Amino acid sequence: MSLLGKIDKARIPEHITIIMDGNGRWAKARGLERVEGHKQGITALREVVEAASKVSVKYLTVYAFSTENWDRPSEEVDALMELIVYAVAKETPSLIENGVRVASIGDLSRLPVKTRQSLQDCMDKTAPGNGLTLVLALSYSSRWELTEAARAIARDVKNGLLSQESITEKELSRYLTTYTLPDPDLLIRTGGEKRISNFLLWQLAYSELYFTDTFWPDFGEEELYAAIFDYQQRERRFGKTSEQVKSK
Ligand code: IPE
Ligand code: IPE
Ligand code: MG
Repeated sequence: MSLLGKIDKARIPEHITIIMDGNGRWAKARGLERVEGHKQGITALREVVEAASKVSVKYLTVYAFSTENWDRPSEEVDALMELIVYAVAKETPSLIENGVRVASIGDLSRLPVKTRQSLQDCMDKTAPGNGLTLVLALSYSSRWELTEAARAIARDVKNGLLSQESITEKELSRYLTTYTLPDPDLLIRTGGEKRISNFLLWQLAYSELYFTDTFWPDFGEEELYAAIFDYQQRERRFGKTSEQVKSK
């Protein structure tokens, strides 16, 4: 039986974020090249986007390529960049049809021109979508983002656009690439590792963390519902006591 019937539709996490890990190991276990794992990973992403839309998740942010991933062998990096072009072009029509709006975070200036253009094209075409917002973290790392924010804040203070006193947590958030997004409610990491790998360090401050050994290519609709169900069993206290949370 599907877990869909077990999850509380009134308490769906508004923003889910996923570290999609384990593509390489998935491929290796089958005697395939790593890139085959990445290809299968795109199929998994399609299924998860559809499932997230089905249960009315508003924002889905996926870690697709980190700043550190640039240091992988060039053949793998090149293959991934090609794969993004191909996947984005192939998926755009159905994303439009399903009202999915695609956005991105990360240092897109480092992407090959072709990859950047296809991504921009997809973001432009899906911009009117009013369903799920799918945020692709590409060439992203949290330390990169925070460093950029520090620079921008320093520049604005120097130019008199911002006073030192007005740098609050809220104001600082406005300098991050995620400024239009609420903080994630739930972080899922597939592939068995229990680490954050330089992802959304600021934004994950109070997110619920869910780790699964399932490799990303094997993750799909039911696995997403399992994560949401697990999330719904937790009590988010934000530093308060359980009694305080319950009395609200
Ligand atoms: C995640 O899978 C995809 C990217 C980082 C691009 P990996 O490629 O890291 O797969 P493993 O962790 O080596 O199995
Ligand atoms: C994190 O996976 C980045 C993405 C999923 C895009 P990695 O495979 O790069 O993470 P580490 O190196 O195992 O921490
Ligand atoms: Mg990995």
